[in-house]
Parts: sequence; structure tokens; C-alpha cells
Amino acid sequence: MEIIPTDKVLGARIEGLDLSHPLTEMENTAVVEALGKYGVVSFPKQSLKANELKAFSSSFGTLEINVAGSYQEPGQPEVMILSNIVEDGKPIGLADAGQDWHTDMSYSKDVAFANVLYGIKIPRRDGIALGCTEFANMHIAYEELPDSYKSRLEGMTATHDFNKFWETMRREKGSSRPPLTEEQRRKKPPVSHPVFLTHPITRKKVLYANPGYTIKIDGMDLAESDEILEFLFKHQLQKKYRYKHEWNENDVLMWDNFGTLHNAVADYGPDEHRLIKRCQVMADKVFSSSL
Ligand code: SIN
Repeated sequence: MEIIPTDKVLGARIEGLDLSHPLTEMENTAVVEALGKYGVVSFPKQSLKANELKAFSSSFGTLEINVAGSYQEPGQPEVMILSNIVEDGKPIGLADAGQDWHTDMSYSKDVAFANVLYGIKIPRRDGIALGCTEFANMHIAYEELPDSYKSRLEGMTATHDFNKFWETMRREKGSSRPPLTEEQRRKKPPVSHPVFLTHPITRKKVLYANPGYTIKIDGMDLAESDEILEFLFKHQLQKKYRYKHEWNENDVLMWDNFGTLHNAVADYGPDEHRLIKRCQVMADKVFSSSL
């Protein structure tokens, strides 16, 4: 196994592992450490069936079954299908997953450690890959936060709401998702998490707030909370913190949801097909207790 860092603010490529076979304990530990250090790791040239993607992902923690409950691999609800392909008039996957900056599952009491995506069809135009996944580095975003914000927000929590991202997609991005049902909203009520977290692997502080799901800083009046959140969202998405993964077919891409924010770039059309299978790994193995 070889870990080859990019020369960018995030990212490394891991070669020499066949993810369709179980990793040894040492390999698993090395992948977890690489995730902490580089935030995003890719494993090129893999060949995985859905159950193998699930087995690889579940070696890092319990897998989430998405609350939206649709577009799952038949018989394997932990494997979600992200795609703009329509077959016989029916979409085969969720077409607009993650198409804005966010942190997966920050809206949940039990948060997610990592995402594992397997690229099956990648759209290209003139040979250039479309539908990249972009990331921002939350270790550096915390480090470079002005001291006044660090001290004002130390020990504070913020509220995250699943419905914020869902409604943004419907209102601003032309999504055809229906509104969440009462039952779906009941299953994912707003939750609070610390604004700054100690990262479970690096033991360094990260900024754990994101424009997708964070709605308010707890215990602050709304005007101050809005002002601070606006500053944090702008600060954390500066270009200098960003890294972009350009997909190749058969890439497995894995990222750490504490050290990064991400955005699925929607720069391809309905006839430029993208097909990705995804598992979300909960943080129950890397954190011994909840946040
Ligand atoms: C996600 O937010 O998990 C989807 C990312 C992608 O499709 O690139």
C-alpha cells in the first residue's frame, strides 16, 4: 500500500489495495490515519459490487440508511444510488445529491465520520471530467479563524437542520424533490453540536458548521447568530482552503466529514450521465461517545 499526497490543501491517492477484499487491521488503521491527515483519499482502478462497497465501508463504522429512503441498491439500503440516469421514464438514483456546500449528517444526533463513493459513470465533455466533488479544509479554516471568533465561539454549540439543505435544493436549485413528510422530519429533528470539535484522529480542532445544515448558534440572539454564521460560511469556503477531485470511472473516493466540507459540482447536463454508489459511515467507531 502506498499513500501519495497531492500537493494541494487536501487529498491523497492510495495505491496497492484491492477494496473488494477485506483490509488487514494495519491497512485499515493506515487508511483512517490518512483520512485524518489528508481529508480526502482516492483509490483508483477498483472493481466493486455493491456488497463489496458495503463491506469495505462498514469496516470503518456502522453504515447509515438515508432518511429519504429512496434510490437504494435493491436489498442493500446502506448503498445509495446517486445518478441523473432515467430508465423507462424513471430516475435510477437521486440526481442532485450534495449539490451545494455541506457536511453530511451534521443534522443528525449521531454524526457521520466518512463517505465512501464508487464512481461507475463519469460525464465528460471534450475529454474533461465533469461532476467533480469539491472539498474545503476545516482544520486550516479553524486555525486561520480570527482570535476574536475563536474566543467568542469556544464551548458554544450550533443547531443543524436536515430540512435546510432539502428546502434550499427545492427553492434555489430547481430540484424536483418533494417536501419532506412530517414523518421524515420527525425522524430527523434539528440537533445541536459544538461549533469547534476536536478531530477524533488528528486531535486538532476543526470548524464544525456548514452552510448546508447549520441554522443558528445556540444561546445567541438571531441577528448576532446570523452575522456570525455568514462570516463563518464565507471564511470556510475561501478558495485557498479548497481542493477538487476530478473523477475517473472506478475511483473509490473516501472523505472525512469532520475535517472537510464538500460540494458536488453540477456542471453536466441531463444527457451527460453520472452514476455513483455511496455509503455513509457513522462515527461510532472513531468517537467513543457522541459529540
Ligand atoms: C454527496 O454529497 O455525498 C455527493 C457527492 C457527489 O456526488 O460528488
